[in-house]
Amino acid sequence: MIRFSENYSLKNYNTFGVEAKASFFFEFTELDDLTEFLQSNSSWKEEPIFLLGGGSNLLFVDDYKGLIIHPNVPGVEVIRENRNQVWVEVGAGEDWDRFVDYCVKSQYYGLENLSLIPGTVGAAPVQNIGAYGVEVQDFVDTVNGFDLKTMTAYSVPAEQCQFEYRNSIFKNELKNRFIVTSVVFRLDKFPDFKLDYGTLKAEVEKRGKLDPHNVREAVVAIRQSKLPDPLELGNAGSFFKNPVVDHDFAEKLKAVNPGMPNYPTVDGKIKLAAGWLIDQCGWKGYRTGDAGVHKNQALVLVNYGNASGKELYLLSQEIQQSVKDRFAVELEPEANILGV
Ligand code: EPU
Repeated sequence: MIRFSENYSLKNYNTFGVEAKASFFFEFTELDDLTEFLQSNSSWKEEPIFLLGGGSNLLFVDDYKGLIIHPNVPGVEVIRENRNQVWVEVGAGEDWDRFVDYCVKSQYYGLENLSLIPGTVGAAPVQNIGAYGVEVQDFVDTVNGFDLKTMTAYSVPAEQCQFEYRNSIFKNELKNRFIVTSVVFRLDKFPDFKLDYGTLKAEVEKRGKLDPHNVREAVVAIRQSKLPDPLELGNAGSFFKNPVVDHDFAEKLKAVNPGMPNYPTVDGKIKLAAGWLIDQCGWKGYRTGDAGVHKNQALVLVNYGNASGKELYLLSQEIQQSVKDRFAVELEPEANILGV
């Protein structure tokens, strides 16, 4: 299946639900359709290209003047297994949480802490999605796709994906160049629980037996209590990354703010909680027009209905400035901001 349109509305392709148009939009379900499209001689040839997954980590500040490519490749297939592990290849267009649900039901373990993250499977390795002590990089075996620069299909093994906190080669060297078509995950047949994050363990215990199903249920409950459902209230999850600062600087901040959450990183630095910093600046629950800051999680910007991308962007800049003024910490957006 393909869809090619000009001047195409992106309102249903971004979980903020803001209106923006793409000059050109191409959606495909099979790699052959993509290569055929790329070989055709058309008006979009000189335009910039943006690769759009589920649109759940994205803010369109303005119309997109260029070509948007939306891979919608379906399919979930077990391609290999042994006594302890199973390798599953999943189309980039599959819904992430439906895949996690399938894994838990099939007794393929590892991804249960990443339950209910909005977006597509293809986008998961791009920003190395993470939650409750797990990052997807621990379960990615290979990322398959098509390179627009070399016009070839190839696979990137996990070791070459340059995974970091919310980062990978696909956001850097291969940005807007490598179209992910499928991802191979290596999952465990025996669960290895990661329950150290926040209240997760207590939430699992409330549900009885320690099993992956209950871990999934607990994660879903925690997320639902803190994070708005994009189908009900437009948002893109955490709008900013948690900032990483030097140890000495964190100590100084801690001396003045004894309650400040802080987490040591493997390289001796300290990760701060952006949500806490924003919350301390008084933004939680703030609303201006239809743009706002979520009432339960200050890291999440929300669209109450008709906020424009520009309004949300301006709000994000005000928040950045106030955190900088008060804590001398620079917040970096986690969401992809387009059109500025
Ligand atoms: N906090 C506040 N006020 C707030 C929000 C948070 O004081 O408004 C405090 C919390 O009390 C806690 C700390 O900040 O002490 C951290 O909060 P939380 O556990 O809710 O996690 P987070 O750091 O805000 C990160 C991820 C989330 C992920 C959760 C759970 C980033 C940018 N965000 O949020 O990921 O679900 O941890 O692992 O790393 C996303 O990427 O879109 C996302 C939602």
